[in-house]
Amino acid sequence: MTARVIAIDGPAASGKSSTAAAVARELGASHLDSGALYRGLTLIALELGHDDPTEIRSAAERRGLILRHDGAEIVPFLDGRPAENLIRSDGVTAAVSRIAALAPLREWVNARLREAATAERILVLDGRDIGTAVFPDASLKVFLTATPEARARRRLAQRGEMFDSDSIRVEATALAARDASDASRTVAPLRRAPDAILIDTTNLSFKDQVDRIVAAARKALLA
Ligand code: DC
Repeated sequence: MTARVIAIDGPAASGKSSTAAAVARELGASHLDSGALYRGLTLIALELGHDDPTEIRSAAERRGLILRHDGAEIVPFLDGRPAENLIRSDGVTAAVSRIAALAPLREWVNARLREAATAERILVLDGRDIGTAVFPDASLKVFLTATPEARARRRLAQRGEMFDSDSIRVEATALAARDASDASRTVAPLRRAPDAILIDTTNLSFKDQVDRIVAAARKALLA
C-alpha cells in the first residue's frame, strides 16, 4: 500500500515547506520536504570535495543518510543524528542546485521518497518534481509561486535580519538564479504539472494559502 500523496511543487522560497507542514497538520497527515534529502547529499558532496554521484551515493549509504519520523515530520538523519541544522548552511544552499541536477542522485532520492510513502496513509510532499516525476498519480498537485521580490522579502524576514531594498534585490537575484538552474536542467526540471492547481501567494496570507490547499485536498481525498 502506498500513501495518498498531496504534491506541492514550486520555486525556491515560495513557502512550500511551511505550507506543506501546515497542510499536513490540518489533514492529520505526515510531511516530507524532499529538498532536505538533496541538501543532505550536497553536504556529503562538499565534505568529499567532488561531485561524483557514485561516490556521493555510497557515502550517503555508508553514513546512513535516511529518512525518519520526528512526529508528523519525516526528516533526514545523517550519522545517526538529525541533519536539519547542517543542511541549511549557506554553503549547502549555494551548491544544492548543481548536485540536484545529477540523474543518479535524483534516482536515489526518488527511491527514498517512494519507500517513505509506503509506510504512510496520507503524505504531503514538497519539492520541484513531485507532481511531474516522483508521484505523477498524486491525489492532488499544487504549484506554489510568488514573485522573486515577495519570496526574497519572506526569506530575509525568516532569517530575522534587518533588510532594505538593496538586500531584497540581491536575494531576489540569487533566488531567480536558483530557479533558472532548477528549471533548465535536463532531468526532472522545475515546472508546473498540467494538472496542478496554480496558487500565486504574492498577495495571499499564509492562512489563506493553507486553507485553499486543505479544501482542495479534502475534496481530492474523497474522490
Ligand atoms: O526546497 P529547497 O530549497 O530546500 O531545495 C533544495 C534544492 O533541491 C533546490 O535547488 C532544488 C532541489 N530540489 C529538486 O531538484 N527536486 C526536489 N524534489 C526538491 C528539491
